[in-house]
Amino acid sequence: MDAIVSQVERQKGEKPRSKSLDGTRGGPVRTVLPVRGYDAVRRVLRDPGLRQAGFKADLVERAGRTVRPPILFLSGEAHRRQRAATARFFTPRAVKERHRPVIEECCDRLIDQLQRRGHARLDTMALDLAVSVAAGIVGLTDSDKRGMIRRLDAFFSPALAMRHDPISGVIATVLGQLRMFHFHIRDVRPAIAARRQQPREDVISHLLSEGYSDRDILVECFTYGAAGMVTTREFVTMAGWHLLENAELRGRFLTTDRAGRLAMLEEILRLEPVVGTLYRRAKGGEPPLALDIRSANADPEAMGDDPEHLDPDRLRSDRVGGAGLAFGDGEHRCPGAGVALNEAEAFLDRLLRVPGLRLVRAPKLGWNSLVTGYELRDCRIEIV
Ligand code: HEM
Repeated sequence: MDAIVSQVERQKGEKPRSKSLDGTRGGPVRTVLPVRGYDAVRRVLRDPGLRQAGFKADLVERAGRTVRPPILFLSGEAHRRQRAATARFFTPRAVKERHRPVIEECCDRLIDQLQRRGHARLDTMALDLAVSVAAGIVGLTDSDKRGMIRRLDAFFSPALAMRHDPISGVIATVLGQLRMFHFHIRDVRPAIAARRQQPREDVISHLLSEGYSDRDILVECFTYGAAGMVTTREFVTMAGWHLLENAELRGRFLTTDRAGRLAMLEEILRLEPVVGTLYRRAKGGEPPLALDIRSANADPEAMGDDPEHLDPDRLRSDRVGGAGLAFGDGEHRCPGAGVALNEAEAFLDRLLRVPGLRLVRAPKLGWNSLVTGYELRDCRIEIV
């Protein structure tokens, strides 16, 4: 089976690769220097002289000294300190002992709901899972979770941001600020207040101990929202879609052990990286480098034969990880990779064992310009 995103783009007559002008499809045109192929992309990601230029880095820069940059935008010593201080939330032991029980409890609740109702939207279930787990790590646990899921979903929904006429632009900005305000008042502020009284083992408590202001913490919470929640939601939906459509793959997934399932999920993510392009730039005024993650992950030198094909037995080159560069590399490599893969493994393992489960409607494929990746919506499943 080939990458679904490439298939759909081919049907629409679109190029599956990023363009050299217009690095963020649907976004304003900007000049970028494309970098393709596994070795070239990995070399750039490991270059300590380059800086983050994606995820709306321009907005963070414009905020200047009024906001402390979130982890994705830090570099050098300041970045190393934040990574070292938050590493304990992401160790294999933390995943096993702390996050896995939360993941399993959430999966039980979601599957139970599906069985009672007889139908569900896979992307909605995936969002609930991704938000519940990341919220625990960040410390956003003092507000109504359903409301928070709604607020975050609305904030990251690209419907208006995708249009580029001036009126839509103004509406999108105002709506964006309103949503940010609601998220701050309802979710972030109560979480901060609770942790000022009683610090816990989470990111917000750590930031408070470092003297971060409420506003800095709000921005960091949004970074985790985009980096941890949006990405995981899309990935779980994509992996579920592949497995629901492909009986052979599903059979293998359900008969192998946990390590085997995690490896299969990495192969799916390699083929369908959620973050399609990463951006870096040098300190001078040169155009940013647009690192084409999909081309890197489909590079036959690194991935072996027929790299556009999903193959759980794929023989990769030495030192090439299962998901290729889908979690990045170098200093910003995703710390949440183990968490995300465990979420997908636990959830899909349970979901696909539900008797009579079937895919009613494949998801609609859209584009998320913030993470430069696919967006899957309205994926209907039911129990017959
Ligand atoms: C399948 C799901 C996920 C994917 C595909 C993904 C992908 C990525 C990628 C590509 C980067 C690197 C960005 C860059 O180099 O510019 C990154 C960074 C990051 N991710 Fe993930 N991620 C996922 C899940 C998560 C989860 C579950 C969390 C936390 C709960 C998380 C937290 C972060 C953070 C904090 C960073 C910034 C790290 C830094 O700047 O040092 N991610 N992610």
